[in-house]
Amino acid sequence: MAITLRDSYNKTTYKLGNHGKRNVQVLKEALQEIDGNVESDMYGQGKIIGDFQQKMANLFGKEAAVFFPSGTMAQQIALRIWCDEKDLGKVAYHPLSHLEIHEQDGLKKLHKIETILLADKTRVIELEDIMEMENGVACVLLELPQREIGGQLPSFETLEKISRYCKEHGMKLHLDGARLMEVLPYYQKTAAEVCALFDSVYMSFYKGIGGVAGAILAGSKEFTSQSKVWKRRYGGDLISLYPYILSADYYYEKRANKMAEYYESAKQLAAFFNRCEGVQTLPIAPVSNMFHVHFDLEKEAVETILTDIQEIMGIGISGYVKELAENNCSFEISLGDAYQEIPTETVRKMFGLLAEKISEKRSGE
Ligand SMILES: Cc1ncc(COP(=O)(O)O)c(C=O)c1O
Repeated sequence: MAITLRDSYNKTTYKLGNHGKRNVQVLKEALQEIDGNVESDMYGQGKIIGDFQQKMANLFGKEAAVFFPSGTMAQQIALRIWCDEKDLGKVAYHPLSHLEIHEQDGLKKLHKIETILLADKTRVIELEDIMEMENGVACVLLELPQREIGGQLPSFETLEKISRYCKEHGMKLHLDGARLMEVLPYYQKTAAEVCALFDSVYMSFYKGIGGVAGAILAGSKEFTSQSKVWKRRYGGDLISLYPYILSADYYYEKRANKMAEYYESAKQLAAFFNRCEGVQTLPIAPVSNMFHVHFDLEKEAVETILTDIQEIMGIGISGYVKELAENNCSFEISLGDAYQEIPTETVRKMFGLLAEKISEKRSGE
C-alpha cells in the first residue's frame, strides 16, 4: 500500500513548521527544573496561579488576568460578561472567527447570544464594517492575526480607529489574541500597547508559545472577577491547573522573545514557496509566523507530490492538504523552532524539487 501524506510527514527528520513533536516530553521539559515541593494551585487559588496571572496582567498592562484551561471557555465567558453588562445579547466578529466555526456554536447555544458577521470571508475587518452595522452590539471581537485567512492583520492605525469608534459608541472591544505574541514584531509594538486598545484580551499558550494547553483572559478587576464566577460554572476550576500553568510559563519564557525570528523565517519560507509556479502563499508576505500555502492543482496531485518530496528529502512540509475547489487546495504553516534546524542548502534543494514536480504536473507530464 502506498504511504500516506500524514505517514510520510511523521517520518521526516526535519519539519518546516512548529516546534517539534507534541509528546509527553513537552511537559517533562517544562517541569524538569521545578522543585517537587512547590504546592499545587487549588480550585483557582494559590501562589502558582496567582503569580502567573499577575505576570500576564503586567505584560498586557491590565488590572488583572485569569488562567483558563482553554481559549474556547475564556472567550465565550468574556462575551457573555460584556453582553450582560449592556443587557444586550449581541456581538460582532469575523465570519471565520474561531467562535463561529470551531466551537459548535457554544456562544449561541449556551448563552443565546446573537452574532453579527463583519466583513467577508476573504479579508480582515475594517472600521467601515463596524460603522455599517445597523444596530449596536455589546462587543466587537477582533482576531489578530485572522487565522483562517492565513493570519492577515489590519494596520495598527485601523486598530486605533476601531478602538476609538467602539468606545465612542458604547461597544466593548475584545481581542482574540490566541497568537498575540506572534504579531508584535510586525506591529513593532509591545503587548501592552496592543492591549491598551481593547477592553478584554485572551492569549493562548500552545500556539507560537508551544506549551501544553491553556489560556489567559485579562481586563479590569471587575471583569476578571466576573470571569472567575463563570469559570467555576463552566467547570474550568480544575483542582490543579499547574501542569498547564508551569508549562505555559516555561515556554512563554523560552519563546516570547523568539517571535521576531519566527516572523523572519516565515517571510523567507513564503518567498521560497512563491517562487514555485502555481504556488502562492496567503498572505504573499506574511505578517506573523504563519501563512497558508495555496496550489493551483487538485488535492490528490499535491498530496502525491508532497509525499514524494517528504520521503526523498526528509523534510516535513505538511501532513494534510485541504481541498478548496477542483484545482485549488491549501495547507497552513506556523513557523517555530523546527525550521531553524534544517540546513539552508537542504531547504533550497527541497524547493528546487517542489518546483520541478509541480511544473511537471502542470504541463501534464
Ligand atoms: C484564533 C483562535 N481563537 C481561539 C482558539 C481556542 O483556543 P483553545 O483551543 O484553547 O480552546 C483558537 C484555537 O485554535 C484559535 O486559533
